[in-house]
Amino acid sequence: QNYYVVIPAAGQGKRMNAGKNKQFLLIDKIPLLIHTLRVFEEDLLCKGIVIVVNKDEEESIRSLVKKYKIKNVIHIVVGGEERQQSVYCGLQKIDGNPIVLIHDGARPFIQLEDVHHVVKTTDAKGAAVIAVPVKDTVKLVDDNEIVQTVDRSALWSAQTPQGFHLEEIKNAHKKAAHEGFVGTDDASLMEYLNRPVAIVEGNYENLKITTPEDLLFAEAIIKKRKEAANT
Ligand code: CTP
Ligand code: MG
Repeated sequence: QNYYVVIPAAGQGKRMNAGKNKQFLLIDKIPLLIHTLRVFEEDLLCKGIVIVVNKDEEESIRSLVKKYKIKNVIHIVVGGEERQQSVYCGLQKIDGNPIVLIHDGARPFIQLEDVHHVVKTTDAKGAAVIAVPVKDTVKLVDDNEIVQTVDRSALWSAQTPQGFHLEEIKNAHKKAAHEGFVGTDDASLMEYLNRPVAIVEGNYENLKITTPEDLLFAEAIIKKRKEAANT
């Protein structure tokens, strides 16, 4: 089953506090975004990558794509103020009704096995999100006081990729934009329309590089993978 992927990379990286978009930060000497792009570049089932970028970063990302010889990029498009708007801009560049994955530029450690699991489940169930069970005990809090302990067995942390049929997710975005609904991920737009979304159990290594300590975790994951490759 083939698919396209939209990669939103048009954020500011404010929580990283690096003074620039975190997509450009070097991890093991290579820009974060390139790590993410390489996963899909390697995948024969991926028919094309759409990258969503900030207006003033379009040229630098174009040259990185060239420098690192990422050949499967079909469009580099300027995004919007919110992630949701950026994704919508990316979706416009794909035609027909293929399966489309949406995957954060800031999640470089996604593995192809998990990507394919999301694609297959999207094909079977209509929409799918990769997620991991919540590890911590989660408290509902009001005014610094615990209201209750939430039943953890029902809680999952949503990650990306999230897979959809293109027409359906485009329509969901259109409706959300029209009605002023802003969700924190793409699945929430389907939920808004009462459409079912399946969960695919993923991997804790698929972290989103968000705050400075995530860079330490990133180096550790890379070290572990290098060691595994050398044995
Ligand atoms: N993103 C985007 N357009 C936006 C905001 C975010 O394309 N207007 C992208 C980011 O570049 C990132 C992904 O969506 O790859 C997930 O967002 P997040 O981790 O929040 O990244 P930033 O928004 O860049 O970081 P922050 O929220 O700390 O500013
Ligand atoms: Mg953000």
